[in-house]
Amino acid sequence: MNKISTLLRLLPLLCFTAALRGQNAEIIEIATNDSAMVFVAKSGAPVIFRYWGEKINDRHLLLERGYDERFQIYPAFGGLNHANIALSLVHADGSLTTELIYAGSETKVVDGNRVETIIRLRDKLYPVTVDIHFMAHKAENVITQRAVVSHQEEKPLRVENIVSSYITLRANSYYLTNFHGSWGREMRVTEERLAQGVRLIEEYRKGVQTTMADNPSFMLSLNHPADEDAGDVYAGALAWSGNYNLRFAVDEREVFHFTGGMNPFASVRVLEPGEILETPEMVLTYSPRGRGQASRNLHDWCRNYALAHGGEPRPILLNSWEGAYFTFDEKTITDMIDSAADFGLEMFVLDDGWFGNEYPRDNAKAGLGDWQVNKKKLPRGISYLADYAVSKGLRFGIWIEPEMVNPNSELAKKHPEWVVKSPGREIPQERNQWVLDLSNPAVQDFVVKTFDEIVALSPNITYIKWDANRPIFSVGSEYLPNDRQTHFWQDYVRGLYSVYERVRAKHPDITLQLCSSGGARLDFGALKYHDEFWTSDSTNAVDRVLIQYGTNMIYPAMATASHVSPSPNHQTGVALPLKFRFDVAMSGRLGMEMMPKDFSPEEWAFAKKAVQNYKLIRPVVQFGDLYRIFSPYEGNARAAMTYVSKDKKQAVFFGYTLQHCARMSTFDVRLKGLDPAKNYRVIELNPKSPRGAFPGNGKTFSGDYLMKAGVSLRIHRPHESVVLHLTEK
Ligand code: GLA
Repeated sequence: MNKISTLLRLLPLLCFTAALRGQNAEIIEIATNDSAMVFVAKSGAPVIFRYWGEKINDRHLLLERGYDERFQIYPAFGGLNHANIALSLVHADGSLTTELIYAGSETKVVDGNRVETIIRLRDKLYPVTVDIHFMAHKAENVITQRAVVSHQEEKPLRVENIVSSYITLRANSYYLTNFHGSWGREMRVTEERLAQGVRLIEEYRKGVQTTMADNPSFMLSLNHPADEDAGDVYAGALAWSGNYNLRFAVDEREVFHFTGGMNPFASVRVLEPGEILETPEMVLTYSPRGRGQASRNLHDWCRNYALAHGGEPRPILLNSWEGAYFTFDEKTITDMIDSAADFGLEMFVLDDGWFGNEYPRDNAKAGLGDWQVNKKKLPRGISYLADYAVSKGLRFGIWIEPEMVNPNSELAKKHPEWVVKSPGREIPQERNQWVLDLSNPAVQDFVVKTFDEIVALSPNITYIKWDANRPIFSVGSEYLPNDRQTHFWQDYVRGLYSVYERVRAKHPDITLQLCSSGGARLDFGALKYHDEFWTSDSTNAVDRVLIQYGTNMIYPAMATASHVSPSPNHQTGVALPLKFRFDVAMSGRLGMEMMPKDFSPEEWAFAKKAVQNYKLIRPVVQFGDLYRIFSPYEGNARAAMTYVSKDKKQAVFFGYTLQHCARMSTFDVRLKGLDPAKNYRVIELNPKSPRGAFPGNGKTFSGDYLMKAGVSLRIHRPHESVVLHLTEK
């Protein structure tokens, strides 16, 4: 390593460009390997958002495009702004306007892959500064953005709205893809052409479970509906687990404006002089090659920067929930552990129902908050079960929901002041429970202590499923002063993050699952403390094809917990073939969630083999690149995709039929993402019968052939599927 690069690595280079000399405009570029965001700055004037897209060589020419103050980097309310408002302040003297001008920029080389740029803005009149922080992640082509505001006015300032990011683009038309749904049907994909006006994607009143209906993420295609492999696609995801607001506007000149950040609804922030307010990060990526590349950028970034242990393979597990629900004793669990070991699984997770004595957790009506092992169900405690699992070669995990309390609990009686509630009003229950006030440091301490004590039940507990099963709704904190109640929404999330930080600092090696009645807290803010997330309470494999397709547009498969469950189950009356259920679950982080003793000997043998097969393909599914081929949303008949290892030496193809394809006797599909020059041996995994569905099973084909001529698969009835494993020959 030469001297200069050593210096760059060791001493973060601090180059501060003080306010621009003279009136010359300056270009500030936030660049990744293939993309760039470009701003134009002039001393004493607003900074202009000029460009975001593929890196360009002649970027100085952008200076010649005029200097239109309407398109600022961070438009505050005041001055000449036609766009979405990024910042709205009420100054100490009551003035409503702010005009942000350039005050310098700073660039820090964080490491070989990351460069941070801070663009400093200040108000023309009041002592208010806003720093816009960009972190360019070069290899992943991801830029994260956040804002930091502070002031030295004589009295507190009211922050009425503050976003993480503002983007403006110009094209002929704009197509927005977003991810929406409800419990059991999260992350459905819809694309729409944006008409002139405003389209909001937001959650403004739940505080917890903010991603159950809509996810704070999107993709935007310019000029035509998004293609998987071609065209400009911009993607964004807000790293925030509270109320959020993404605003997509097309103005009267057909210019596109985006702002994204915390939701300002009922959330005015009173900022003391000298105090700092920081927004969460907006995660942004640009792809010149359609949605596919945008997803791959986000997946790479997530594995490297927004997932705990992103470089380690995820274990295959049996979870007790759909097999036992609340009804079990020690023998039920040890039998399940025996079966899990026989299947070749690697972990057992004891879900809800193991705690509470005075108020036993025998159903959802009691016990939350009382985190002592239920002596009746488990007389020898958790440590007995954890040791038992380890003696069978399995890891052991356990479920918790530490932010919540049932009114029927010792905790609710002892600490009524910890419950989120509006003074004098009835506290509404949902799923028979209340939310604990995490804006209160005493509650934060309680949650950390609870976590510590549960982990201390046995050194063999190495996995925690952290659930959160209700939203906040009726709001109020006994801890916050009367004139700071609007701080609650942000302070709850900051309290939660502070708890996660403390838990992670003490237990860095624990595997953490992020769960909220399924995927109701799926965002990069919470995810970075976790190893994976529970994708949905629907384990129905047909639903899962749709849910996982949407989920994996933004979040990677390695973190997408995907379990084989009973069929029919609590979600559906339709019985689906075991093969189909495995083939769907194997496209994410495979697990099982059922009562093994209900399997027939044939099903048992099939499951054992499928688990073995997953171990073969796990590195490709969890660390490879995803190429989507057929969308289940188009025609609802089929879905298909490949995962390809980074060195392109291996690939896994998944194909599913969802509905009857009367006219089609075969499933013809061209593979994607392979190396055309390599030869691949193709093996069908989990075949339904010895004949299988792929006539070329075991033969070798070139990548070129597989991507051009494709494969012809013998499946056409509903709920059939094929998994092909390709290995370089
Ligand atoms: C939530 C989770 C489920 C399960 C139950 C237990 O609904 O999403 O997976 O853990 O809680 O009560």
